[in-house]
Amino acid sequence: MTIRVGLIGAGNIGTSHARDLELRVAGSEISVIYDFDEVRAAELASELEARAVPSYQEVIDADDVDAVLIASPDHFHAEQALACLAAGKPTLCEKPLAPTEDDAHAVLDAEVALGKQLIMMGFMRRFDPGYVELKGQLGVEGIGDPLIIRNSHRNEIAPYGLDSELSITNAAIHEIDINRWLTDDEYAWVEVITGRNGPLTPQGQHDPLFLLLKTRAGTIVDVEMYVQAQLGYEVTCAVTGGTGVAEMADGSYVTTARALHRGHRLPKQWLGRFQDAYRLQLQGWITHLETGSSIPGASAWDGFVDAVVATRAVESLRSGERVPVVLPEKPALYV
Ligand SMILES: NC(=O)c1ccc[n+]([C@@H]2O[C@H](COP(=O)([O-])OP(=O)(O)OC[C@H]3O[C@@H](n4cnc5c(N)ncnc54)[C@H](O)[C@@H]3O)[C@@H](O)[C@H]2O)c1
Repeated sequence: MTIRVGLIGAGNIGTSHARDLELRVAGSEISVIYDFDEVRAAELASELEARAVPSYQEVIDADDVDAVLIASPDHFHAEQALACLAAGKPTLCEKPLAPTEDDAHAVLDAEVALGKQLIMMGFMRRFDPGYVELKGQLGVEGIGDPLIIRNSHRNEIAPYGLDSELSITNAAIHEIDINRWLTDDEYAWVEVITGRNGPLTPQGQHDPLFLLLKTRAGTIVDVEMYVQAQLGYEVTCAVTGGTGVAEMADGSYVTTARALHRGHRLPKQWLGRFQDAYRLQLQGWITHLETGSSIPGASAWDGFVDAVVATRAVESLRSGERVPVVLPEKPALYV
């Protein structure tokens, strides 16, 4: 059985996912592609022997599309996810579900009304071998309960232009999600601290940002978010547990010592660091669609909660205040 995937958005990550689905994931192919840039859609369609169509609705409605992959810019995700739900098509939606709580809530409500989980979110760090091993170290058999988790997320240059709010809703949302997943907990509050800016930070923006969060069980989580760090793409995560410490290695790079220097290369951006996670996520999604097993990654509920926390973090950035995180009751569909 081959799952025929329709792609909406053939940019950086959409192209990478499409090639993975064609070449490196078992049981899938790309059949239909839409991109706002029709030349881009046509080129990728020709490379992958798919066809390009002039609207995203035509991807969703196509008879030869069993499932949809949304990889358009953030602010189109909610509208396109709603259209997928209306058509009853399973969907892998790139993060975030939406840049705002209200738009994410609309998608959650629509899926709950449908009574069926069709959406999986592209929070691929949940499939990354490093994070998976780190989670495996927590608990009584490992380092005990997580007390403090320290994260850093550095980009060589701001991927979508430097805007402090985007640093939260687009980038730090990865840490918001992965620390919920690591701790099996929800946040009680979030505070965003700004300080001295880096040399490339434009007037009126803040970079780096420091996010401080506390979970309901009391785990302290911090995130250094620095999108113009220049040094390359680097993601770190270290957990202090009740009885030990576990630190995720920075990818599987070879360390060399040469010419009075010891170290390893850094990738330019995320595709270099999380290549395996993207492929494993896509394989998990396709296998779930083939077998009818439960969604293996983040759900629409997770996408909604992450959007709520990001929205509170943006409020904190604007006000300078600590902001409580209050969530509605989790719908039975996700329990
Ligand atoms: N999970 C991850 O680690 C990860 C990594 C990168 C990007 N992303 C997410 O994927 C999405 C795309 O990011 P990117 O880096 O590929 O951006 P990109 O700018 O490289 O590509 C976006 C593409 O969408 C097209 N587009 C614009 N409007 C559209 C519309 N209305 N419908 C369909 N396509 C449209 C653009 O022409 C472009 O080709 C973003 O939401 C981003 O947050 C996730």
